[in-house]
Amino acid sequence: MLRDDVYRRPLATALERLGIGPGWRCADIGAGGGDVTVALAEIVGREGRVYAVDSDPLARDEAASAGAAFSQVVAITQAGEDLRLPEAVDLAFCRFLLLHVEDPAVVVERMRHAVRPGGWVVAQEPITSAGRIAGMTLSMPGARHPDVGAVLPAIAVHAGLEVVDAWAEAPAGAGPGPVAEYLRSLTGVDPGDDPVVLPPLVTVIARVPNGC
Ligand SMILES: C[S@@+](CC[C@H](N)C(=O)[O-])C[C@H]1O[C@@H](n2cnc3c(N)ncnc32)[C@H](O)[C@@H]1O
Repeated sequence: MLRDDVYRRPLATALERLGIGPGWRCADIGAGGGDVTVALAEIVGREGRVYAVDSDPLARDEAASAGAAFSQVVAITQAGEDLRLPEAVDLAFCRFLLLHVEDPAVVVERMRHAVRPGGWVVAQEPITSAGRIAGMTLSMPGARHPDVGAVLPAIAVHAGLEVVDAWAEAPAGAGPGPVAEYLRSLTGVDPGDDPVVLPPLVTVIARVPNGC
């Protein structure tokens, strides 16, 4: 998938940093096209579980069909604000979700409550205005919080999570290639040979305190 191509490295880095392995119970909130769901399902294996959660039934179906080859994927139509899973999970993950929700803090709080004590909440969200095309700032008028990545660590801390690691990564390129193609698919703008820096994705890896 295109998004997976260009933002694969931040996802891989986060999953490595977590030490996720077979048997983990996970939730992918705002699962959409299912890129993250599939990456998680491949790692946790049949003895694990991945709840692919999306508020939009069509997006939920998309995630379900992306994960159809994995019996460990369970697709659920539910808003992040109302998150209630059949069991406590080891990891709640979201990527490119909080920029769209009404109140990102509410969703992160719900993610924290979905995770067992000592488990993990991971969020990967952009700072859209830090992206550049030919040196010009990117914008995303359709998103409620296009720069939510810039405040992501603070949101996690305020939700009562222990931030273990946080960083930003941005795919960049010039001329034809996956970065230009991704930008074209997202915005309809063809950057030609202009240099592109896609919005940096801020990753927060946070732990639910024991005893919570
Ligand atoms: C940009 S897509 C991201 C898909 C996927 N996480 C990824 O990184 O490829 C955002 C997804 O979040 C879903 N979404 C938006 N608001 C939501 C909410 N309040 N609760 C759950 N899902 C939501 C949308 O339906 C959409 O599928």
